[in-house]
Amino acid sequence: MRIVVVGGRGFLGQAILRSCFNTWGRELQATVVTRRRERAELLPVWQRPFVWDVSESVPPPSLVNGADAVINLAGESVVQRWTQAAKQRIRDSRVLATRNLVESFRQAAQPPKILINASATGYYGDRGDEELTEESPPGQGFLSEICQLWEEEAMRASELGVRVVCARFGIVLGAGGGFVERVMPIFEWGLGAKIGSGKQWISWVHISDAAGMVLHAIKKEQMKGAMNVVAPNPVTNKEFTRTLAMAVGKPAFLATLLSVPPFIFRLQLGEGASILTASQKVLPKLALSTGYTFAFPELELALREVYFQRRAMEKALATTS
Ligand SMILES: NC(=O)c1ccc[n+]([C@@H]2O[C@H](COP(=O)([O-])OP(=O)(O)OC[C@H]3O[C@@H](n4cnc5c(N)ncnc54)[C@H](OP(=O)(O)O)[C@@H]3O)[C@@H](O)[C@H]2O)c1
Repeated sequence: MRIVVVGGRGFLGQAILRSCFNTWGRELQATVVTRRRERAELLPVWQRPFVWDVSESVPPPSLVNGADAVINLAGESVVQRWTQAAKQRIRDSRVLATRNLVESFRQAAQPPKILINASATGYYGDRGDEELTEESPPGQGFLSEICQLWEEEAMRASELGVRVVCARFGIVLGAGGGFVERVMPIFEWGLGAKIGSGKQWISWVHISDAAGMVLHAIKKEQMKGAMNVVAPNPVTNKEFTRTLAMAVGKPAFLATLLSVPPFIFRLQLGEGASILTASQKVLPKLALSTGYTFAFPELELALREVYFQRRAMEKALATTS
């Protein structure tokens, strides 16, 4: 099983690669595409590094030739102040990188069987209480536009006979990265609070399920097009706040009583604050209809597991240092 993961050194990439290793073991030939030569050396021995900046230029076709799957996760972080320069980096690292990758498929004698391309629930924009499935139309705003362009570039690979799945990730909850690393310490200090009214919907997914759904899409040959990578039970921001406070052993009533006005985030992140304030009630219709079974369908268990893993990582670090 030959799998190439672009942007695979990151939070999601490493989780997906570990799931691949657990599934295929010694049959797995994993290549990780990274821009950083110095960090490439830190990858586990069973991951072969390939140093290339896919947003800068078309990679050599030998990288993807005959691959069973290519997973493209490359993308500049969206959690930053959206200046014009940052927006350009956010766009280029997704849209140009995907265009260059698909061009390498075109040049390959044997293009890969499947391309799983990252996208995000940001595709749907700010949608209040509306239930959103893969068939729902896109929303408005910068992130939605980026996701639409990103998916358009990925879908071009289907003209070459490649099966394409655009994985619209919700907020991925896992220890050691992503949303949890930014938010959990605030709750541990007892400073957690809901955002604004707390009525906005949060579509989350545990990292084991995010990786599990990517593998599900690789294995199920009938799957193609958009796939919402979210748990079946989205919650409001108020419910998320309450559950997170409880998971870290802090009083939940205080966290749901207090609220941070959205303008505070706008001061810090500008237009980028919309990531924290937008409401998206997204459902995993395709994954459920194709038989995916969630390990963490409920938020409470998901957050308690993440908290446990985070504590275990901290303890392991303390013992080695
Ligand atoms: N985590 C989430 O909650 C979440 C939610 C929705 C969507 N997503 C999307 O899923 C993908 C993977 O997410 P992640 O959490 O694993 O992110 P991550 O840990 O930041 O990894 C993304 C990788 O993209 C590469 N990258 C970063 N900036 C880049 C740039 N300017 N140009 C080219 N490559 C760049 C980096 O690889 P190197 O430095 O090794 O080259 C990095 O390891 C991203 O595209 C993200 O937008 C994630």
